[in-house]
Formats: sequence, structure tokens, C-alpha cells
Amino acid sequence: MPLDTIAVKLEIKNRGVRKELEDVIASVEGFRVMQRSNDTAHADLLIFEIGSDLEKEFQVIHSLQNLETVGEIFLTSPHSDPALLVQAIRTGAKEFFSQPINREEVKHAVERFQERRGKSKRHVPARMGRVIDIIGAKGGVGTTTIAVNLALSLTKAESFQSVVLMDMNLLFGEIPLFLDIEPTYHWSEIAKNISRLDATFLMSILSKHPSGLYLLPSASQLDGHTVATPEIIERLLHVMQTVFDFIVIDGGQNLDDIALKIFEMSNTVLLISVLSLPCLANVNRFLKSLYALGYPLEKSEVVINRYLKNPEISLKDAEGSINKKIFKAIPNDYRTTMSAINKGKPLFEVAPKKPVTKGILELADTLTRKEGKTVVS
Ligand SMILES: Nc1ncnc2c1ncn2[C@@H]1O[C@H](COP(=O)(O)OP(=O)(O)OP(=O)(O)O)[C@@H](O)[C@H]1O
Ligand SMILES: [Mg+2]
Repeated sequence: MPLDTIAVKLEIKNRGVRKELEDVIASVEGFRVMQRSNDTAHADLLIFEIGSDLEKEFQVIHSLQNLETVGEIFLTSPHSDPALLVQAIRTGAKEFFSQPINREEVKHAVERFQERRGKSKRHVPARMGRVIDIIGAKGGVGTTTIAVNLALSLTKAESFQSVVLMDMNLLFGEIPLFLDIEPTYHWSEIAKNISRLDATFLMSILSKHPSGLYLLPSASQLDGHTVATPEIIERLLHVMQTVFDFIVIDGGQNLDDIALKIFEMSNTVLLISVLSLPCLANVNRFLKSLYALGYPLEKSEVVINRYLKNPEISLKDAEGSINKKIFKAIPNDYRTTMSAINKGKPLFEVAPKKPVTKGILELADTLTRKEGKTVVS
């Protein structure tokens, strides 16, 4: 099969309609229908069936378009009342097929798409989002504060950055409290449905914060379904990488086989510590263990949180004890961080001028600079 075939994704519940669309697309040269088992790749064209939960479905379509996850979107529905058509046009869908499907109509629409594509010669490069894993050297060192505010800061990059924040404290995660949102779905929805996970399904599960940050929270109560495995993580991160520029993970203090899979797939692991001997000893153990497992030392970066001027242990001493340069020190400010947490708001909204806020914005900037982009501070 030629490499430049146009990949068409069908998100169609009605089997008969799906089969008809498959047949029509197969009859036009240069197209292929993506299979569910390997469809984490970019779709040039998505044909989406709407009609069971319009509000949710249009939200998903909006997200997919805003994040440029798919090229064009065509819609089909068993209903064709004018209000639905108006909404379909507003989403920017290029075609609407009423049901039963008229094969000729679909064929012509697909050919027009091929023409448009040929003219614009627009090649959409496959997105390869960067995975930033954030791990605490100990409990309570500020891992969640940094994960949440770093993810929020990344959404402020000058050129649009799509960011998702994922909670790997799989039980009783606190991210929704930090962001004052009540997610409808969480991690177990992914774990239960991993075989049908793709960009469209992912976007129907994620919650969206007003800042534009997407969120995959953990379960808020025991439900027996939150089992993640390294295989699930691998697929989830692959799909997320096709949709988002940054995937920020609150990794808690885990170092099990799931955490190692995340580590393996991460571009950067931020190890959060404070300037205390027990914490730095943990950093040391962590770095040594990962090195012994064969992971390059450059992948991990050490971030000192709650940094006080004139500390008992200086940054230089800390660097000597862990044999590594400190990536960034975030100033100590209990009152401001606590106020942001209690209000469920980003630090840059609660206290934009405080050094702790600037510290996290700078951390985001350092991470994005590698990509040649700067974060607004
Ligand atoms: N830079 C900072 N300066 C002062 N206090 C901070 C700072 N960052 C976080 N904190 C405080 O530390 C406490 C713990 O923060 P957080 O919940 O983010 O830590 P954690 O490492 O995720 O904890 P856990 O192990 O419970 O998940 C909070 O009260 C928060 O206000
Ligand atoms: Mg935490």
C-alpha cells in the first residue's frame, strides 16, 4: 500500500452504516480505512456519527479540531433536523450525510476531500508529544503542586501548546481539588476500555479546565476498576502523544513496574525534593537505581522545592551529595501555595507576581525552550 494513502477514521456506531462507508471508501483509490487495533496514528479524515448524546459529541468534535488531531471531519446522523445541521456546520464539519447513506453522495464528498488535499499539499506532521513525569522523592514535598502548576504554565506558552495532566496516584488523587473541577470520568474508564482507546475516545473521557488544560484524574473512590498495567500505560501514552504537545504526569512516589514504564516513555523525569538529608538520600537512591536499570542519567532532572534563602544545606552541597546539577529551585511559600490549593486555582491566577509562581513558570520555560518556544511570564 502506498505510504501517502489518505487515512480515514470511522467513528460509527451503526454497523450497517459503517459497512456502507467502508465499502464506498474502499472503492475510491488512494484511501484506506483505519483499523481500531492500530489507529493511534493521525487520521486525515474522520467520519463521525452523532445523535446519541449531542452535547458530549459536539464537545469531542470541537476538541479534536482545536487540537488538530484530525484533518477534516464529516458527520453523519440518523436525525437530520435543521438545528442539528446548523450545529454541525458551526463545528466546521465539511460534509453531513443523512441516513440511510447515499453512496454516490459519500463518494463525491470523499473525492472532493482528495482534491482539496491535493491542492493545499498540506502535510500534517505526526505529533509526538513530550512526556514529563513528576515524581516525589518523599511524600508531601509538593509533587502535586508542581505537576498541576507546571501543566497550567505550559498552556501559557506563546505558541499554542496542548497539555494534558494525568494523575498516577491511582486512588484518591487530589488534582480535581487543586483545579476545582468535578470530572465526570477518570482513570478506570481508560483501563476498562483500553482495547477501544483512540484519540476520539480519549477526548470523550478527559475533563477540560477553563485554562485549556485537559485532565485525566484518578478514581475518587474504590471501584475495583482502576487497574493500570504497563501495557495500558504504553497504549494510553502513545494515544496522548498523538493528541497533545505535553503530557504531564503526577507520578506520586511510585516506583513499581507501571512507574518504570512511564519512566521509559518519558522525555524528562522531574524528581522533586526538598533540601533535607533524608530526601536527598532518596534522590541519590532513585538516580542510582535507574542508572542500574539501564536508564540514562540525563533523563532525570532534580527540582528542589520549598527553597529558602540561606538554607542549612546549600544547593552546591546538595549537588555534591547527589553528584548532579540541580535543574531548578522553587522558592518556599507555604501561604501562597496553600491559598492556591484551597481556592482550587492556578498559582499564576492567585499570586502572579510571587517568586514561587515565577519559579514554576521558569521551570515550564526551561522545559519548552528545548522546543524553541517560550512561556509567557
Ligand atoms: N514551594 C512551596 N513552598 C511552600 N509550601 C509548598 C510549596 N509547594 C508545595 N507546598 C505545600 O506542601 C504541601 C504538600 O503539597 P502537595 O500536596 O503538592 O505535595 P505532594 O508531594 O503531592 O503530597 P502527597 O505525597 O500527599 O501527594 C501543601 O500544603 C503545599 O501548600
Ligand atoms: Mg500529591
